[in-house]
Amino acid sequence: MDAVQCKNLWKIYNAGTPAEVQALRNVNLRVKKGEFVSIVGRSGSGKSTLLNMIGALDIPTKGSVFIDGVDISTLDDNQLAGIRSKKIGFVFQSFNLINSMTSLENVILPMIFKGMSGKQRMEKAKRLLEKVGLEKKFHARPNEMSGGENQRVSIARALANDPTFMLADEPTGNLDSKNGKNIMDILKKLNKDDITIIIVTHDQRIAREAHRIVRMTDGELKDGL
Ligand SMILES: Nc1ncnc2c1ncn2[C@@H]1O[C@H](COP(=O)(O)OP(=O)(O)OP(=O)(O)O)[C@@H](O)[C@H]1O
Ligand SMILES: [Mg+2]
Repeated sequence: MDAVQCKNLWKIYNAGTPAEVQALRNVNLRVKKGEFVSIVGRSGSGKSTLLNMIGALDIPTKGSVFIDGVDISTLDDNQLAGIRSKKIGFVFQSFNLINSMTSLENVILPMIFKGMSGKQRMEKAKRLLEKVGLEKKFHARPNEMSGGENQRVSIARALANDPTFMLADEPTGNLDSKNGKNIMDILKKLNKDDITIIIVTHDQRIAREAHRIVRMTDGELKDGL
C-alpha cells in the first residue's frame, strides 16, 4: 500500500484576486511505505505547500491526499489532529524547539497527551536523544547547542509518538555540509527502521541520498508516480 498518495492536487492561494498564485497544479505523487523521497525545486516552486498538504497542515483547493489509504478530506478536525500527532513526525529548517526548555523537556512535550507515566516519558525521551547521539545534552537548552544538535533534538521530538512517516522541510537548510550529512545519516537510519521519509531540499547532494528524487517546477511535479 502507498504511505502517501496525492491525486490531482491543486492549491490556489488568493483565488480570483489579482494576488492569485497557483502553488500546486495538478500534482500526482505516490510514496510507498518504507520509501525515502526527496522533493527538489526552485524557491517558490511549491515544495513547502505540497509538504503542508501531505502533513494535513493545510487543505487543498482541489484533489485529494490519501494517508495509508485514507482520504484525509473525509476526516474531522479531531481525526486530523490524531493523524498529525500520531502518524507524522515533522522536522523544520528552523527547528521550532521551545527555547526555555531542555532537550529532554522538548522531546517529552508531544508525549504529554499519551497515557504514559512521567517515568515512562522520561525514559523514552532519553532513549530517543541517545538514538540521535545527544546523550550528553539531556539538560541543554537550544541556545546552548549547535544548529546540528538542535536539529537532532527536533528529530528526537518528531519520533516521540512513533510516527510511521516523517516530513522534513529543508532539514539541513541552516546547517553546514558536515552537520547536514550527519542529519541525513540519521534520517537514513530511521528509514532503515521502516519509517517512510519525505524531505524537501534545495541541495542536490542531499537530495541524491534518497531512493527517489521528484522535481517541482512552477507548481507542477515531475516523476511523482
Ligand atoms: N499562505 C500563502 N498565501 C499566499 N501565497 C502563498 C502562501 N504560501 C505560499 N505562497 C506562494 O505559493 C508559491 C509556492 O510557495 P512555497 O512556499 O510552497 O514554495 P517553496 O518551493 O517551498 O519555496 P522555498 O524553497 O523558498 O521554501 C509561492 O509563489 C509563494 O509565494
Ligand atoms: Mg519552502
